[in-house]
Amino acid sequence: MNKITIAIDGFSSTGKSTVAKRLAKALGYIYVDSGAMYRAVTLYAMQNDLIKKDCFDKQQLIAQLKDIKISFKFNEELGFAEVYLNGQNVEKTIRTLEVSQFVSQVATVSEVREQLVFQQQNLGKDKGVVMDGRDIGTVVFPEAKLKLFMTASAEQRAQRRYDELIERGDDVKFDDVLKNVQSRDHIDSTREDSPLMKAEDAIEVDNSNLNLDEQFELIYNLAKDKISESN
Ligand code: CDP
Ligand code: CDP
Repeated sequence: MNKITIAIDGFSSTGKSTVAKRLAKALGYIYVDSGAMYRAVTLYAMQNDLIKKDCFDKQQLIAQLKDIKISFKFNEELGFAEVYLNGQNVEKTIRTLEVSQFVSQVATVSEVREQLVFQQQNLGKDKGVVMDGRDIGTVVFPEAKLKLFMTASAEQRAQRRYDELIERGDDVKFDDVLKNVQSRDHIDSTREDSPLMKAEDAIEVDNSNLNLDEQFELIYNLAKDKISESN
C-alpha cells in the first residue's frame, strides 16, 4: 500500500490537531504538529528574554536559532509524539495563552520559518505523514496528495480553546482567548512570508456544526479515497 502525505491547514482551534492525531493513528502514519515547533521557538525566546510585553529582539532570536533544537519523541501512553526543546519536554508549557500571545509574531520571521520548514520536510520525506499547521499544503508539502483547509466561526473556536484551557487548570478569560484567536488569524493570514491561505487544491472543511466523530469520519473517508487512488 503506497503511503501518502496529508496536509491539514486552517485557522486556530479548528480541530486540526485533534483530527490529525486520530487520522495518523488510524492509518498507521506519523503525526507532526508543526505549530508546536513555532510554539517551542517562542517559548525559547520568552525564557531567554528575547520577547516581552512590547519588545521583541528579532535579531537576537535569529542569532540564537542555531542553539534551538526541537525534536519529537513518541509517547506510547498518549499515542502521539511530544515536542522537546533542547532536550526538555515542553508539550504542556507551549500551550499556555502567554505563548499563544507571542507565537504569531515569531512565526513572521523568515529565518525561523526557513529552519522549521526544512525540519518539517525532513520529517515527512518518506510520506506516511499527517502534518497540521498554516502553510503545510502551500509551502511545506505543495505536492501532498490530500490537503484540507479547516474553518469554523471565531466564537466557536475560542469557546473550544477556552474550555480546553480551563479543563487543564489555566486561569484565563473567554474574552482574552477570543481576542487571541482573532489576532492570530489576522497576523497569520496577512504576514508576508507563507501566509495562511487555502491551497488551490485543498478541500475546505467547515466543522462549525460537526462533532469530533463526524469530523473524523468525513476526513478519514477522504484520506481512504486518496490512498486507493494512489495505489
Ligand atoms: O493550535 P493552534 O491552532 O492554536 O495553533 P498552532 O497550530 O499551535 O500554531 C501556533 C502558531 O504558530 C500559529 O498561530 C501560527 O502563527 C504559527 N504557525 C505557522 O506560522 N505555521 C505553521 N505551519 C504552524 C503554526
Ligand atoms: O489544532 P487546532 O488548533 O486547529 O485545534 P484542536 O486543538 O484540535 O482543537 C481545539 C479544541 O476544539 C479541542 O479541545 C477539540 O476537542 C475541540 N473541537 C471540537 O470540540 N469539535 C470539533 N469539531 C473540533 C475541535
